[in-house]
Amino acid sequence: MIRARIIGTGSYVPEKVLTNADLEKMVETSDEWITARTGIRERHIAADKEYTSDLATKAAQNALDMAGVKAEEIDYLVVGTITGDYPWPATACIVQSNLGAVNAGAVDVSAACSGFVYALAAASDRIQAGHAKKALVIGAETLSRIIDWEDRNTCILFGDGAGAVVLEAQEGEAGILSTHLHADGTQLELLYQPGFATRILPSIEALKERPNFLYMQGNEVFKVAVRSLTEVANIALKANQMKVEDIDLFIPHQANIRILEATAKRLKLRSEQVYINVDRFGNTSGATIPLALDEVNRAGKLKAGDILLLDAFGGGFTWAAAMVRW
Ligand code: UT7
Repeated sequence: MIRARIIGTGSYVPEKVLTNADLEKMVETSDEWITARTGIRERHIAADKEYTSDLATKAAQNALDMAGVKAEEIDYLVVGTITGDYPWPATACIVQSNLGAVNAGAVDVSAACSGFVYALAAASDRIQAGHAKKALVIGAETLSRIIDWEDRNTCILFGDGAGAVVLEAQEGEAGILSTHLHADGTQLELLYQPGFATRILPSIEALKERPNFLYMQGNEVFKVAVRSLTEVANIALKANQMKVEDIDLFIPHQANIRILEATAKRLKLRSEQVYINVDRFGNTSGATIPLALDEVNRAGKLKAGDILLLDAFGGGFTWAAAMVRW
């Protein structure tokens, strides 16, 4: 059977680090509150002229280098992002140009924090259908650009970064085993960016309402996140006739340590099974999962045959999982 196998991973985070102590000087908050409620200690923030496409390009190049694959060999390039450089065209087209991936079709996927898993599913399906041999899948965000730095409810949570994987069509048992995508648009205003697109057009009048920032009703989102992450993880296990004990590494979207712990508890995962790096990067939306995957891969912690469960939840709402045999 042909599967999409991950043959290289890469990541990149901007140099600038914003600590909880830095945030204490910007809004009424404390390191204790942020650490206790979110588990986040620091996050990386893009420099003035550093854009989502720049982070994505660096992460992708690192993944290509690890895979030993040239950019021209890529025939499909997908970027999961909600903070693209422009409303359109796709940030994937900028990355395609930066890398010289001249033979690749390029497109963005907008599924908020589930963007990488949605993008992975699109590329994996294309490979399995025989329409692509090698694909680049990237999750990249500069959330710092859509954060209201005066809103302590949200500004403490998010960071910038990118992660990428190179997929290759391979015969065998290793690779993406299954992907599971879900959405519910009925409560989109619990987590969204109202403007500026075509519903709210930019004007001096419209700017007064500050629609260009991310809005979130955190405690409502929290409950849906735990429920959805648990539900889709169980769906992925069932589809593969696996039990929780079969998972070698659970890589959840890194939103908040309490969400991760509550999900792990509901799934009855042991703490050694769960990968956590939210303390160092905060919530980088579509980038959290590939960033974590690259960290664990480069640390040499993955061995052939390991079962990984990638589990995401985000605005939309969207939620998604991918079962992977390494
Ligand atoms: O990426 C996927 C989507 N995002 C998420 O999954 C995030 C989901 N939500 C969360 O992570 C949590 O809801 C938060 C971390 C955002 C907030 O934690 P919470 O335990 O749900 O707190 P809360 O919103 O219920 O607020 C509790 C109190 C409030 O004060 P009062 O009304 O009780 O006096 C807030 O005003 O904490 C206050 N508060 C803060 N205090 C100090 C809110 N933000 C801060 C802050 N520093 N930064």
